[in-house]
Amino acid sequence: MVDERATYGVDAPGVLFGMTVGGLVELTVAVALFIIGWAIPAIVLLVGGLGLAVSAAVFAHTTFRGKFRVWDEELDALRLAGDERVLDLGCGRGLVLLKAARRVPNGKVTGIDLWSGRDQLGNTEDATLANACAEGVADRVELVTGDMRELPFESGTFDLVVSSLAVHNIPDAEGRARAIAEALRVLKPGGRLRVADFRYAKAYGEVLREWGAADVHTRDLGWRFWYGGPHARTTMLTATAPA
Ligand SMILES: C[S@@+](CC[C@H](N)C(=O)[O-])C[C@H]1O[C@@H](n2cnc3c(N)ncnc32)[C@H](O)[C@@H]1O
Repeated sequence: MVDERATYGVDAPGVLFGMTVGGLVELTVAVALFIIGWAIPAIVLLVGGLGLAVSAAVFAHTTFRGKFRVWDEELDALRLAGDERVLDLGCGRGLVLLKAARRVPNGKVTGIDLWSGRDQLGNTEDATLANACAEGVADRVELVTGDMRELPFESGTFDLVVSSLAVHNIPDAEGRARAIAEALRVLKPGGRLRVADFRYAKAYGEVLREWGAADVHTRDLGWRFWYGGPHARTTMLTATAPA
């Protein structure tokens, strides 16, 4: 039987795997050390193992649940009219893309991605298309294979550009700045930008200000968007294209 439910994969699967296995190994060795009477090293490993196990649980919550709830709230707050054109940069298996599609029954959503399996488990164009069918929104979803640093769209095409945990995957600051400038270029005058990412959101804001964007703000998205702990927190960058 074919499974027709949408599934959105795991972000950075190698990191979650490392945390889980590392935690289990440390806890197992800690138990062994307690048994042979090496209490101090056992306690050190116990604390380390518990820390990794909690980090893995927080990461799993974010990737399977927390980011879904946060993006529902973000998209609802935009109060879309329902006929917008939306672009998702690094859409992956379509979590944000398809949530947007549900909110624009008379519009169109476009997802662009390079489909990296290292950045998201099972990340393929076919998987995203299957999710669009499962969510009942395939009629208004377009998928493009491409690089967000060089968007293959005319300037001023989209009412809304979104991105979730994707821009930071570009390894160099110049490339990330180019992606953010591209996002602004393809927005219609007055169009809105929402980029959730960690580490570099403030730098993205500076790029947007340089290019004349209005209402540029960053805000912390809270524990539901922690990839393991507060050290890997996610920030939302919001901005409006110049009128
Ligand atoms: C962690 S996944 C997040 C996917 C999706 N936004 C989500 O929240 O479920 C990061 C995505 O960014 C994509 N990506 C990385 N670098 C990219 C680039 N330069 N251009 C387009 N997509 C890229 C990856 O292929 C991957 O799908």
